[in-house]
Amino acid sequence: MKKAEAQQRLEELREIIRGHDYQYYVLDNPIISDFDYDRFMQELLALENNFPELVTADSPSQRVGGEPLAEFTAYRHRTPLLSLSNAYGSDDLREFHQKTLNDLSLDSVEYVVEYKIDGLSVAVIYEDGVLTVGATRGDGTVGENVTANLKTIKNIPLKLKKAIPRLEIRGEVYLPRESFERLNQERDALGEAVFANPRNAAAGSIRQLDPKIAAERDLRAILYTLMYAEGENFTSQAQCTHYLQEQGFTTMTPLISSDIEEICTYCEEWGQKRHTLPFDIDGMVIKINDLALQKQLGNRSRNPRWAIAYKFPPEQQITQVESIAVQVGRTGAITPIANLTPIPLAGTMVARATLHNGDFIKEKDIRIGDYVVIQKAGEIIPEVVSVVSEKRTGKEQEFIFPTLCPECQTPVVRPEGEAVARCPNTLSCPAQVREGIIHFASRNAMNIDGLGPAVINQLYQNGLIHNAADLYILEKEKLVALERMGERSADNLLKNIEASKNCRLEALIFALGIRLVGQNVGKILAAHFGDMAAIMAADYEELVAIDEIGPKIAESLVDYFASERNRHFIQRLRDYGVNMVSAEEASNDVVAAVIGKTFVLTGTLPNLDRKTAAEMIAKAGGKTTSSVSKKTDYVIAGDNPGSKYTKAQELKITILDEAEFLTLLASKEE
Ligand code: IVH
Repeated sequence: MKKAEAQQRLEELREIIRGHDYQYYVLDNPIISDFDYDRFMQELLALENNFPELVTADSPSQRVGGEPLAEFTAYRHRTPLLSLSNAYGSDDLREFHQKTLNDLSLDSVEYVVEYKIDGLSVAVIYEDGVLTVGATRGDGTVGENVTANLKTIKNIPLKLKKAIPRLEIRGEVYLPRESFERLNQERDALGEAVFANPRNAAAGSIRQLDPKIAAERDLRAILYTLMYAEGENFTSQAQCTHYLQEQGFTTMTPLISSDIEEICTYCEEWGQKRHTLPFDIDGMVIKINDLALQKQLGNRSRNPRWAIAYKFPPEQQITQVESIAVQVGRTGAITPIANLTPIPLAGTMVARATLHNGDFIKEKDIRIGDYVVIQKAGEIIPEVVSVVSEKRTGKEQEFIFPTLCPECQTPVVRPEGEAVARCPNTLSCPAQVREGIIHFASRNAMNIDGLGPAVINQLYQNGLIHNAADLYILEKEKLVALERMGERSADNLLKNIEASKNCRLEALIFALGIRLVGQNVGKILAAHFGDMAAIMAADYEELVAIDEIGPKIAESLVDYFASERNRHFIQRLRDYGVNMVSAEEASNDVVAAVIGKTFVLTGTLPNLDRKTAAEMIAKAGGKTTSSVSKKTDYVIAGDNPGSKYTKAQELKITILDEAEFLTLLASKEE
């Protein structure tokens, strides 16, 4: 095919695909089969593959997500993204209405009522009809440029139906509840951490540097604010919404009314039936319709006077406690859990609620067989609010807190003054061992991808691991023999376990799961001692002498390393090749000019990503901090540097570009 011909067919195909995307994702009314759609898409991809010079930014092919980014650049919003003040119920709404009338000296005002979508707010910009920038809210003034990710959202057009020089709009990105549940099921099956709610899942997807991840998630956007449309003139919010709809966006205008009582009833009703919507809403938004009146009222520092959010109360349900079970956590903490008669709450079926500890059960007087009020405030696990005592029959049974660990039958201890009961069998209680391995592999510890709770339980139950050190002697043949473990997953798992040997010392310290030793203490110890052997050899006096290490932490460390078993465990990790020294210590590449110097990185460097640059600095004996101060020695600036650059200029701090930075690192002289 000739180029001119290809060009013409490409344009046709793009129009066809855009039209079907609009039918499917915006109108929710597909008019061709997936099969036929895929054929058009395949043809488009094949042609673009043959004529890469003909690929355009607004081609539907661009939705699949391009190359991963090294980091997000900052995006400064032309006008800040505001938030809303809240109304907690109809009385607050009436008060808002009265104040509005007073401020405007009117006796009637018209409002639009919208859903308050529980997602993340974004700004989207089109230039000459083509999507050029998508950015997160950030602190309202500066957000992150997440254009590549926003382009993957199927109901955000890459091209406007009618091009104008500039269009700026704002809205909410979210994950439909059904897609959220599917995503969590998939993640759970793969042993990855599940998201707490659709909002976290949507935000997590938009924050990924690799746009392919966002492309795989079924993200959607609803647009609700038109900030600026060059050459167009509107007088009302409803008109703006209509315009956006005509331009191909998904919008909403459930109600327009000047009757505050109607609005109150409407909001209350939606509070009841919010789960009939395919996405989560946490309230309703009431906005003055007339843009001139909006302008007249203006904004406070963080939120407008012309709008208010009606927040729904947390949802509650009444259900029965069928039984109470206990769970043993990593530290041996024994948590009672109520098994409930399953009941729909906040869009999901709820069958369990945490009861925290024995005192909580006593305080609320929760008995087996009781009817209880449960509530969910945005998270997956609901809580018990109270017992419905009117429903008691007298047959309810008091819960007797176990005196033996349900997993290993060791007598439970509950130190004076503490609410939590524990199983003291830290070393061989199966529950604690399993949870300990889960912690060891988790993201902030050894960060072993693909090794989540489900896989660890499977490995443990099949006797392939007895503690975390056994991970490093897993054999492929044994792995593939497990259910649901294919050749590829086994290879990946082993590869990720191998990679974890290079983890940083502070992550390893945290991974050990020593009581009171979190990530921060891990960092302090790694920086102070630089070597696992030195930490193990340190006595109590030496430890408490360190800033930020108190007596309790010091004691816990000494206890941990006094145990022959723990020392043996660490020795095994060392034997298998797990890194035991800090990056600084590992290096014999220290550079005199860098030792003890403080660096700040800003902007995108041409070749190095931030992490690599920071590692090089550490290796050379310097350190990296996140903000510029008088103590900063060098600022390394790349493209689109942020406010750190200006601050560095103000403070007259030496600014280096990538090449100058590399020269400094290469300098061997004093
Ligand atoms: S209007 C000045 N409308 O709620 C206009 N916001 O606290 C401010 N939100 O950050 C936003 N649905 O992320 C508006 N229909 C809607 C909304 C909405 C959800 C979010 C938005 C904002 C927060 C307000």
